[in-house]
Amino acid sequence: MTLEEKVRKTLAELGATDAQSVETLFAEVRAAMEAERQDLVSRGATSEAERNQLCKALRDRWLARKSGLVSLIDENWLKKAGKELKPTVGRRFNELREHSAGVEVDALLRAVPVSLEVHVSDPMHRTDSVAAEVSPAVALTDLTLPGYRRPLGSIHPVTRVMREIEDIFLNLGFAIETGPEVESVYYNFDALNIPESHPARDDWDTLYVDAQTVLRTHTSPVQIRAMEKHGAPLYIIIPGKCYRHDNPDSTHSPMFHQIEGLAIDTDITFADLKGTLDFFAKKFFGEKVRTSFHPSFFPFTEPSGEVAISCVFCDGQGCRICKESGWIEVMGCGMVHPEVLRHGGLDPDRYSGWAFGLGVERYAMMKYDINDIQLFYQSDVRFLEQF
Ligand code: DAH
Repeated sequence: MTLEEKVRKTLAELGATDAQSVETLFAEVRAAMEAERQDLVSRGATSEAERNQLCKALRDRWLARKSGLVSLIDENWLKKAGKELKPTVGRRFNELREHSAGVEVDALLRAVPVSLEVHVSDPMHRTDSVAAEVSPAVALTDLTLPGYRRPLGSIHPVTRVMREIEDIFLNLGFAIETGPEVESVYYNFDALNIPESHPARDDWDTLYVDAQTVLRTHTSPVQIRAMEKHGAPLYIIIPGKCYRHDNPDSTHSPMFHQIEGLAIDTDITFADLKGTLDFFAKKFFGEKVRTSFHPSFFPFTEPSGEVAISCVFCDGQGCRICKESGWIEVMGCGMVHPEVLRHGGLDPDRYSGWAFGLGVERYAMMKYDINDIQLFYQSDVRFLEQF
């Protein structure tokens, strides 16, 4: 009985009623598959086309979805095996399937040599054909084969939003400035006019490295560093990582990103702040968006404000996301406190400035309708490949 005939019968019909005879049958199948593969590999082919055709024929004989030998074994031997024999048949069938990767076209093409026609021209311009066998080793290093395709990554949504915000301000003539994430208590708090008694200084909010050093809790300390370094006029934005003693939940993370903005010149007013931030909000969230400014408090600005935008989800009508208010708060801002200018080495009688600070993750969550900040940090490709 040929192999083709055997795989069309059930194990019972073949009289394979115990594990031993199942083993023998599968050994026979594997030996046949290997022999046919070897036969093809050692035979070679006289042309590329013939090689492709031989490889495809062998693949189809074994792996064709409906009538390939492996499928027939699945149908007739495995699926119809009795309860007792099933585990043995299953195990051997899985092995056979793994082994059958060797008769996939790709694998075969790599292994099967082609006899090349080599053309040699002599000085009389006469062309002779000489057939040369190429050994399997040479065929294995065929440099004309296409390379392996590696999946492309994508830009992380937080980075993407950060760059988008940066671009808006770069186009307005702002420059990008950065500073250290491990920061001194002086730059993180004192120079920013944050008093010794301020609750943010508490161990519970700030991650201390030692008594004089913290993981910066905001990007604002770079305001002082930039004033010291560049003086005025100064138009900068400061993107970067910040750290707080927060337990992770759907809106908090001990590490997050901020972008700070700072404009200092001889005649900066609150109107400049409002105009620039309204322009920014429309560029980022869409021209339809309206902004609203209301008073707030930060030690490093006076006056201080919060900027809210008309809710991008309900267009200001009131919904679950804006808690029925029609507005969403998007940043803190204010006129730079004279004390802060002084700490940066600038004369508050000559210069004035405005500043803002925003949380990048929040912007990304709004932009892409993401409801859990933790998704940004879990490196789950199913999440990341959507961007
Ligand atoms: N640093 C503030 C924070 O982390 C945000 C902020 C508010 C920055 C107002 C500013 C500002 O520059 O003017 O909460």
